[in-house]
Amino acid sequence: MSLLLAIRGWDQRYWQEKFQALLHERRVLLPDEVSDPAYVEFIAAWKHAPGSLKAYRNTRAVFSLGAGVDHLLSDRDLPDAPVVRIVDSDLTRRMTEWVVWQALDWLRQGARYRAQQQAGQWIDDREQPSAGDISVGVMGLGELGMASALALHQIGFNVAGWSRTPKKPEGAVSSMPCFSGSDGLSTFLARTDILVCLMPLTPQTEGILNQSLLSGLKQGGRLGGPVLLNAGRGGLQDESAILKALDRGVLFGASLDVFRQEPLPAGSPFYNHPKVRVTPHNSAMSHPDAIAGQIVQQIHRLDSGGTLLNVVDRQAGY
Ligand SMILES: NC(=O)c1ccc[n+]([C@@H]2O[C@H](COP(=O)([O-])OP(=O)(O)OC[C@H]3O[C@@H](n4cnc5c(N)ncnc54)[C@H](OP(=O)(O)O)[C@@H]3O)[C@@H](O)[C@H]2O)c1
Repeated sequence: MSLLLAIRGWDQRYWQEKFQALLHERRVLLPDEVSDPAYVEFIAAWKHAPGSLKAYRNTRAVFSLGAGVDHLLSDRDLPDAPVVRIVDSDLTRRMTEWVVWQALDWLRQGARYRAQQQAGQWIDDREQPSAGDISVGVMGLGELGMASALALHQIGFNVAGWSRTPKKPEGAVSSMPCFSGSDGLSTFLARTDILVCLMPLTPQTEGILNQSLLSGLKQGGRLGGPVLLNAGRGGLQDESAILKALDRGVLFGASLDVFRQEPLPAGSPFYNHPKVRVTPHNSAMSHPDAIAGQIVQQIHRLDSGGTLLNVVDRQAGY
């Protein structure tokens, strides 16, 4: 029996070696090495060609090589097997770093001081807002959103969250206001200076960062206007609405790690926009050793009669 690696855009041989070094009892195959699809027991995939997994009818689980599963669930011909995502403390920490880095860069006017330094200017400016003056709203209170909310809270930001189902957070963020569903959205937006989006791409969230949502954000505020941080998925963004909101001052700025088209094409207006910070979808890279190790552990759990962890709800889409 074997594990099939169905990967596009990453180095397949590199991943094959990583997996084979850990999965001694099974062969790790690339698609063109499979002679009989019936012998494929597990699939680990990243952005495979839709329809290309249809023949693997004996698959016991399909593993995503990342935290998101939109690349799998958008394939109507996916084998009828549990879909499993990655939940990894290293990935969560990296995403938290990105969110805190971007929030602090907007709070502490990073772009302004970098420009002043380059111009050789020393402008004595004592009017500095502090984190406590800023309300951050985290959209998506899952693994990544909740960890980011906690880190932002610890720095002193006023943090609130929004999710699909109601939440009662525990521990240090137990007093964090939490909103849910379409009923809670407008109240959540109206208090938000920095909107952090860490949601999955599903049919319900596609294009959610649109003109109507952006215009519901708190105007004014100590940053000069609301700021959007999106590291969820590019498909959440209505990108022309974001550009218009920036140009009209409805948004003060945006830090974007993800885009509808990746790599972001040369000439995209996001690259040179003075109010936009672009990172190349690397806010939280999946470390191959951790990812392969976790998937192999899951296979061994099944072998010893256990159940899979982090199985996604195919109906909900995440
Ligand atoms: N840029 C990168 O490098 C990178 C890296 C990793 C992940 N990501 C992205 O980050 C996403 C989130 O990851 P995660 O591990 O935190 O996911 P997660 O644990 O599944 O959490 C998802 C959160 O989004 C909320 N949500 C889902 N649909 C919603 C809707 N229609 N309305 C309101 N809230 C909704 C969920 O609400 P409930 O709590 O009510 O279920 C949950 O709180 C991934 O799906 C992936 O797209 C990006």
